[in-house]
Amino acid sequence: MTDHFIARPAAVLRGSIRVPGDKSISHRSIMLGAIADGTTQIEGFLEGADAISTMNVFRALGVAIDGPFDGRVSVTGVGLNGLKQAASDLDCGNSGTSMRLLSGLLAGQAFDSCLVGDESLSRRPMKRVTDPLAAMGASIASQDGRPPLRISAPGKPLKAIDYVMPIASAQVKSSLMLAGLYAEGTTRVTEPAPTRDHTERMLTAFGVTVEVNGPVISLQGGQRLTATQIDVPADISSAAFFLVAGAIARDADLLIRHVGINPTRTGVIDILRLMGADLTLENSRIVGGEPVADLRIRSSELRGIDVPPELVPLAIDEFPVLFVAAACARGRTVVTGAEELRVKESDRIAVMTEGLARLGIGVTPTPDGIIIEGRGEQQAVFSGGEVDSHGDHRPAMAFAVASLRAAGPITIRDTVNVGTSFPNFVELATTVGIGLEKHA
Ligand code: S3P
Repeated sequence: MTDHFIARPAAVLRGSIRVPGDKSISHRSIMLGAIADGTTQIEGFLEGADAISTMNVFRALGVAIDGPFDGRVSVTGVGLNGLKQAASDLDCGNSGTSMRLLSGLLAGQAFDSCLVGDESLSRRPMKRVTDPLAAMGASIASQDGRPPLRISAPGKPLKAIDYVMPIASAQVKSSLMLAGLYAEGTTRVTEPAPTRDHTERMLTAFGVTVEVNGPVISLQGGQRLTATQIDVPADISSAAFFLVAGAIARDADLLIRHVGINPTRTGVIDILRLMGADLTLENSRIVGGEPVADLRIRSSELRGIDVPPELVPLAIDEFPVLFVAAACARGRTVVTGAEELRVKESDRIAVMTEGLARLGIGVTPTPDGIIIEGRGEQQAVFSGGEVDSHGDHRPAMAFAVASLRAAGPITIRDTVNVGTSFPNFVELATTVGIGLEKHA
């Protein structure tokens, strides 16, 4: 068997940990630092494969980047129009954020580029960005809406559009804002529901005027960025694995430090609290324009809920592990309005349904969500056994967390991509008491 985890049942979790830097903020810090005037210093950068893909793309576009050294990165900005044509294809690896944001950033350049990705990324939908970018005058060829994306220099400058997004996607919003920097006029994007606003916040930190009026985000083209310092908080999406671990383990008390609690990301906190989790925020503060807190989680008696649909975009990456929490709750949990889960690094509804069913959980997939019959009254909620992550980092880590309430060891196949977002997951999990082994 290639890369896999073996996770053995454990009951006691203790510790105070800091999980790696926020993936969304890490990507954006490189992108904006690269096109700024001056040198941007970044701390707390996520040294995971996805953010490194973004870093390598900008190196190929002629940007000098030092690091990462223990989370520190220095980006020598080339200015708004200083990027250079790359000598070869730009490899986004497993990272949808890299490809979608870069497609917007590169659409307005005076040179051609080709964005490619791994097998999973090559299956993911790109029309959501290429259609509105084409309306701005970009020239992007795809494989029937999927990567690779061949971007040709537009004959004339992009023009701003007023775009009402059909889906709630921060990647689409950000892609259009980045293209909007290179467009004539004011680009306006309207969101159907709030999504993560790191691009808006970070552009502002770089001195760009971004107007936010309820669901409408506007930005005038041609604005220059001024280098700044960025302190990347710990990723709430990575913290989520430990929040659920602490809630479901029989004897747990964990502190997760310096976690980003931007309100567009805290759906996981709200959902776990609705389920009855003993979760508290300590030491709340603002760091570099982003709210941060230490999160304390203790063993909890969870109950099944109907997840409020408005929380779905605010917790979109946390559902694999929230499904594990739901299995450990008393009663049924119903998730609706989450069809986007089907087009993540894997079809997360299908992958989690398959794995949870193998571990003995009553689970019904629906087109836009899932129904999970909680077994919270049992000590051992899951049987042991073997599950397949289908190469998706978040299901892999979610199944590792499930071991805390399993009757026997769980073997999780195809775990190499855990390194895309959480390179030291096994080490940190082991530190707090999860019985996890990594096998190559
Ligand atoms: C991200 C936005 C979300 C999220 C992804 C990161 C971002 O994707 O799932 O992991 O950094 O903008 P969508 O925009 O597709 O919802």
